[in-house]
Amino acid sequence: MSNFPSKEPVLVTCGLPYANGRCHIGHLRTYIPADIFVRALRKQCQEAVFICGSDAHGTPIVVNAEELGITPGELISTYHKHFDNIFKMMEVEFNFFGNTDSPTNHARTTSIVESLIDAGYVYPQVIKLAYCPYDKRFLPDRYVEGICPYCGALARGDECDLGCGRHLEPGEIRNARCKICGNPAEYREQEHFFFRLSAFSGFLSKYLETLRGTPNAINYAKEWVRELKDWCITRNLEWGVRFPDHEDLVVYVWVDAPIGYISFTEEWANTTGNDWERYWKGDSRIIHFIGEDITYHHCIFWPAMLKGAGYTLPWAVVASGMLKIEDKKFSKSRGYVVWVDEDYLNHGFHPDLLRYYIASYTSHTKELNFSWKIFQDKVNNELVAAFGNFLHRTLHFAYKNFGGIPEGEVDKEIFDKIRSTTDSVVSALDEYEFKKAADDIMELAQYGNAYFQSHEPWQLIKKDKEACGHVLKNSLQIAKALVLLFEPVLPGKMEKAWKQLSLPGDIHALRFDEALVEIPSQKLEAPEILFSKIEDKKIKEMESILDRRIKVAISKEKKQEIEAEKPAITFEEFQKLDIRIGTVLAAENIPGSDKLLKLEVDIGEKRQVVAGIAKSHKPDQLVGCQVVVLANMKPARLFGVESRGMILAADGDGTVLLLPEKKIKEGTKVR
Ligand code: MF3
Ligand code: ZN
Repeated sequence: MSNFPSKEPVLVTCGLPYANGRCHIGHLRTYIPADIFVRALRKQCQEAVFICGSDAHGTPIVVNAEELGITPGELISTYHKHFDNIFKMMEVEFNFFGNTDSPTNHARTTSIVESLIDAGYVYPQVIKLAYCPYDKRFLPDRYVEGICPYCGALARGDECDLGCGRHLEPGEIRNARCKICGNPAEYREQEHFFFRLSAFSGFLSKYLETLRGTPNAINYAKEWVRELKDWCITRNLEWGVRFPDHEDLVVYVWVDAPIGYISFTEEWANTTGNDWERYWKGDSRIIHFIGEDITYHHCIFWPAMLKGAGYTLPWAVVASGMLKIEDKKFSKSRGYVVWVDEDYLNHGFHPDLLRYYIASYTSHTKELNFSWKIFQDKVNNELVAAFGNFLHRTLHFAYKNFGGIPEGEVDKEIFDKIRSTTDSVVSALDEYEFKKAADDIMELAQYGNAYFQSHEPWQLIKKDKEACGHVLKNSLQIAKALVLLFEPVLPGKMEKAWKQLSLPGDIHALRFDEALVEIPSQKLEAPEILFSKIEDKKIKEMESILDRRIKVAISKEKKQEIEAEKPAITFEEFQKLDIRIGTVLAAENIPGSDKLLKLEVDIGEKRQVVAGIAKSHKPDQLVGCQVVVLANMKPARLFGVESRGMILAADGDGTVLLLPEKKIKEGTKVR
């Protein structure tokens, strides 16, 4: 028995993208399967509301807007439009795409936080927080970088993103540094507000036994529920939803973001004449599609908040595995990223090809590797050679020899095959096994190909036109079923295929059951090819775009590393350097070293200095030259020769000495 249709109303949501960067394939890994799921629900006669929106708050948005010299509001409005637009182009069709900075979400968040306060689930506590003495501000979340106290990895303030993946509470991170200026942070005391998560451990343990979805989410959550820490839900920021009665605090972004799911349902309901409380106050099935990395927030924080404030709990949490690009961990900063507009749509690739890849390459909870070669293979071998070929040869043969779909009945055996495929597709979808569903449909296409091939209609047509018509009728019934079954995955292409079959009705609104309705005999237009091969040349081009991006990222990273070693200094610190103008009195090679010269320099007093410039400069050329010397360098011995100072040079195109603009008195200070 399938889970759907159910008598309870169904609400499907997707994790809200931060309106802070462009859409990449990693995002689509969650949104496309969710869209497929919703389309498939509708094909099982299950009404479902599909909701998402921009996550507008949080520290990174404030930091980025500051860097760009714009307001956070301006920043999020740009990316909000960007995501909305990309989702439309990728045929991810939300009923509502909201924004967590909306008045509705401010109001709903305030109301939920007040309920939690009233119920005694929120308490104040003075904690030690990272504070940057130079920028004169507290450093919430991603304003701070340091070492994870659990695993020792480099981490950001609220999350050990490169190491163990734990959520970090304010003050937990070690060796905190200010992300803006790079200086070590200090710790200062401040009052913050905590959500009594620990009070929910009994409730959560029971709840997680009933929560549905994918095992990767639920099993992790069951582990975490054993050691729950109370959760700091306020931050020192101006951008966000105000914490009640505290002018200087906003709620943590992970409070108001999931509340967006409720607010967007309200906003959708208000504009369409529906009742949001059916979903959030009554018996309903709320299904959250998320990326695996935000399981803690959805299986622990969120149900506890909902429970504490008296709302309906999620029915299922479906977590997608992480994304790899060409077998490397996805990383924007390292260049392992495929942008949906720039690297995919703008190159003329049809959205359905990527939808198919994401749905069918690996199972939803496993890591998904995106590789251009595999993309090409899957398109060329599966969509073109197997499915597309079957569709086209059937339609083309019927059109050419019969002018349309022939008279006659479809065999029971064919209907049986369609029925069993549909059943297994539906039960795979019930388990969120999109790969299994896609494989089952593809298997029906192969069955169709084998049926067509083995019945040799091109021979039959010469001997027995009626028998040939019968083979075609059966084949076209399979084609019809394939188009219906594939609609959730390939909505754009299947809309075209439905037209080619000259069938009535809106393919997006029809049910899977329609596949068992005999295809009528009728005229057909000449069919067009739906799927074409991707050439090697195109794939090479795409690979070289990615390669170039990775190379650029590597050189940028190297530069940043060098810069990162040098935190900002104050003028007082700079003044500790004693830099002076000197004149070279004598210069000679140092025996045994091809790099070093021994110089005698007048810097208001005579100094012996060893300089690593022998490869670029001859001793004779230097005598009489004026140079810039760091005079208070600690004395050192090089090749047995004492050096008391350092000649300044630029290290670029060889070694280039810095010279004063005109001759000046020895010992003149450089500032
Ligand atoms: N913006 C968050 C992220 O990208 C997801 C927020 S999901 C919600 O990780 F539940 F908070 F809405
Ligand atoms: Zn700072």
